[in-house]
Amino acid sequence: MPVIDLRSDTITRPTPAMREAMAQAEVGDDVFGEDPTVNRLEALAAERLGKEAALFVTSGTMGNLVCLLSHCGRGDEMIVGDQAHTYVYEQGGSAALGGIHPRPLRNQPDGTIALQDIKTAIRGDDVHFPRTRLICLENTHNRCGGAVLTLEYMHAVGELARRHGLAVHLDGARIFNAAVALGVDVKVLADDADSVTFCLSKGLAAPVGSLICGSAEFIAEARRARKVVGGGWRQAGVIAAAGIVALEQMVERLAEDHANAKRLAEGLAVLPGIVLDPAQVQTDIVIFELHREDMTPDALAERLRERGVWLFTIGGRRLRAVTNYHVTAADIGRALEVFADVLA
Ligand SMILES: Cc1ncc(COP(=O)(O)O)c(C=O)c1O
Repeated sequence: MPVIDLRSDTITRPTPAMREAMAQAEVGDDVFGEDPTVNRLEALAAERLGKEAALFVTSGTMGNLVCLLSHCGRGDEMIVGDQAHTYVYEQGGSAALGGIHPRPLRNQPDGTIALQDIKTAIRGDDVHFPRTRLICLENTHNRCGGAVLTLEYMHAVGELARRHGLAVHLDGARIFNAAVALGVDVKVLADDADSVTFCLSKGLAAPVGSLICGSAEFIAEARRARKVVGGGWRQAGVIAAAGIVALEQMVERLAEDHANAKRLAEGLAVLPGIVLDPAQVQTDIVIFELHREDMTPDALAERLRERGVWLFTIGGRRLRAVTNYHVTAADIGRALEVFADVLA
């Protein structure tokens, strides 16, 4: 049975061009700074994001952790959304490994944290309090349904942070989805952040890897932090080669994933028991609720899986579907037929 895999954009497999580039990659010892392909990827990433330097790391989780460890010392506080990937899904690594105190603030449904909430949370100089050092944002916002934070919002948070002497870290795992959705150069979205992490291994379809971008000084610090968490790697050019192809060939096509997600959302919204506003779907993530007496979200996911449509439940009444490189417009049509059958 052909499978339509909507569990995540992380399931994407490398393209033939990536495999070819990987086979041909020139490599060296990256801990010595001698892997020419890694160096090329880092230079390309820094240029795309409009930053001085970049660092290739294994994953989005490692990228975020390394950035948080580089911005904050033990006992420092970071402001973070209560639905942020960093806060919810990364094992509290910044607290566990870095002694960083998280200050979770409510994420609005559009992925933002209200500016007033941030202002109120910034600590004054008082011996009783931890020191606020950092504001973390996520764009696009995964648990808020792939919501795009606007340029205006990014600027407003950047301005607030500068006024209070704070740094901004942007978990931009899907920042290229945000840039494509807004129709802007990714540079301007990264402009207000002191550090940005983005992932090659999600919608961009590379097999492994994320990049951290920032000032040369920040990246030198991050390189140390990457080493202490065991992330200093050697002939990583083999996978960096796929990352270069991802950045050069796979960004523009994200618009197809967004169009497919919209199509899926519009089709789902009219089915019995599904609660979803398609207008909220801006990128590749479709989060919806199931309101039915006769079926739980887990039961729905199971029945869909038996029919070859795979997705995840994400707690409560919610389910999540993510479009990606391997899902075509025709697949979306087929998936909607299966949904309609199962919910009939
Ligand atoms: C917003 C966001 N940040 C970070 C990550 C972590 O990336 P990785 O799975 O590469 O560790 C994810 C993964 O889905 C994510 O959605």
